[in-house]
Formats: sequence, C-alpha cells, structure tokens
Amino acid sequence: MLDKITVVGAGNVGATAAQRLAEKELARTIVLVDVIEGVPQGKALDQGQSAPIEGFDTRVVGANDYTPAAESELVVVTAGIARKPGMSRDDLVRTNADIVKQVSQQIKQHCPHAIVVVVSNPLDVMCWVTKQVTGFPRERVIGMAGVLDTARYRAFLAEALDVSVEDIQAMVLGGHGDTMVPLVSYTTVSGIPVSQLLDRATLDKIVERTRNGGAEIVGYLKTGSAYYAPSAAVVQMVEAIVGDKKRILPCAVWLQGEYGLSGMYCGVPAKLGRKGLEQVLEVELTPQERAALQKSAEAVKQTMAAVKL
Ligand code: APR
Repeated sequence: MLDKITVVGAGNVGATAAQRLAEKELARTIVLVDVIEGVPQGKALDQGQSAPIEGFDTRVVGANDYTPAAESELVVVTAGIARKPGMSRDDLVRTNADIVKQVSQQIKQHCPHAIVVVVSNPLDVMCWVTKQVTGFPRERVIGMAGVLDTARYRAFLAEALDVSVEDIQAMVLGGHGDTMVPLVSYTTVSGIPVSQLLDRATLDKIVERTRNGGAEIVGYLKTGSAYYAPSAAVVQMVEAIVGDKKRILPCAVWLQGEYGLSGMYCGVPAKLGRKGLEQVLEVELTPQERAALQKSAEAVKQTMAAVKL
C-alpha cells in the first residue's frame, strides 16, 4: 500500500478509477483533483461514504488544487475532454495537450518523485507531453492503452469461443488508435494458439472490432466515452506497480530503439514493478505485425507533429 495516490480529472474515468483504487486499498489516501469547483470534493465525499459498506479504510479527498496531492508516490492523469461521436482521438490533441501540460507542471512541482500513469487521449502523444514537461525519466511516465485494448480483444475472443475470459492470453501493441496491432500470433487459449480454434475471417472481424472498440462505445453513449474498462485497466497497472508484481503488460512507453522505434511513445510489452517501467520486452513479430507496428508508430508521429511544446 502506498501513502498517497492522486488522480487528476474527476470525470468518468478518473472518479471510477479513484473508487476502484480505494476499494483495493492501494493507498492510504486517494486525492481526486479537478478544475471544476465542488465536483472532486462531492465525489470524494460520496466514495468515502461507500467505505463502511465496501469495507475499505482508504481516505478519499477531493480538491481543486494540488496542495493535498503533495508528495504523491503515484499520479494517474485522466484530465481532458472525452471524445464525442464522430471525433477521432486525434481531434482531441490540441485541447488535451494544453490541459496535460498544465497538469504536468503541477505534478513536477508538487509530486517530483511520482510515477505517472497517463490515460488522457490521444494517449501516446499525451504521454510524450507529460514526459517532456515533467522531465521525469521514462521509468516514471507510462501510458495506459494496451491493457484496455487487450481486454477488449480478450472479451471478444472469449465471447466468440464461449470460454472464460481468464483463459485468453493476448497482447495488443502499437499506438492507441485505429492502427493498433493485436498480436494474433501470440494469442492463446490456455496455451493453444487461437488460430487452431477460430478461422481467419472470424479472427479478422475480432481484430477490426478491437480497433474500433472505443468508437463503438462512443457511438452508443453519444455524450462521452468508455470508462468502466479504462478505469479497470489503469488500476491493474497501478496494482502491478504498488505491489511490485513485475507483471508483463502492454503499456505505452518511451522507446529508445526497441522495435526500431525511438523518440516516441508506443505500446509494447513492458514489465511493471515498484520502480515503474522496469523492462521493455522485445519479442519476435511476423513481417505483417512488424509492418503494422511501423504504420501505427507513423500515425503517432503525425499526431505528435500537431503539438508544440
Ligand atoms: N486539471 C484537472 N482536471 C481537468 C483539467 C485540468 N486542467 N481540465 C479538464 N479537467 C477535468 C474535467 O473537468 C473533467 O472532470 O477532466 C475531467 C475529464 O472527465 P470526463 O469529461 O468525464 O472524461 P473521461 O471520460 O473521464 O475521459 C478522460 O481519459 O480515456 C481518456 O479520452 C479520454 O482524454 C479522455 C480522458
């Protein structure tokens, strides 16, 4: 258990993540920070009142400034505007870059030793903004995308196969967008390659649905984007870090030559422990997967070009 975790952005993803973090008692105090007056305070109070029922002793504090967040060991960044129907993640880039810049300056000042897990979109670019503005090493600025994309892929596969989601092992790499790369060659069902259990056409459909997983939900919700699975995904990463679990999860990390990519964030298999990013794993890819990863990285670079730091 950490002493303090701060969640910036008390909207759908941030507030749901705070509740999950508190229920799992991952820190003694969870601080929810948002620019809207009253919202983080009200949500924190409400969550605190679920504590006697859920049986957790974590305190939840809401604030409009970073004073209560001082010296947090871990910060989750969900501040920003969510996608509206018809809006791509990239449409969000300029607005959210300004928001994430402001947030990163505050993190640098008030939580200089924190590990930062970024959730705001477009994810890979917001991670870069955070790393540049805080000046933190790559070990301490990690993005949440692959765990969510992989969870969607696993859920669709489990449904198609009529098996437990727990028995599907998989990885989705690349940027968090329409060019993400579900690794079919590494997808197994209790160790059995999925290609032995599903035909190519069905797998292709599932890969396509995974790529559009976020947009499918935006299409239904109309006024917001997904938050139950995104908050669960970021909490799984936090749990791996807090518990020093050394879990291998697909995370957005700052690449320094791995997979032939550098100077950018992109989703790759990463080891998470108490130091944050502890290792980037380079695995063999098929020529198609390698090409798809390159294409995805190009898309991230294009979005980066839209942001001035
Ligand atoms: N500092 C703190 N909070 C901010 C700031 C800021 N500078 N600017 C905006 N916010 C807050 C908003 O007031 C709002 O409460 O961020 C919150 C965002 O919440 P929602 O609009 O509910 O969006 P949400 O669905 O939570 O998504 C947040 O995560 O998954 C990504 O694409 C998503 O970028 C989006 C982010």
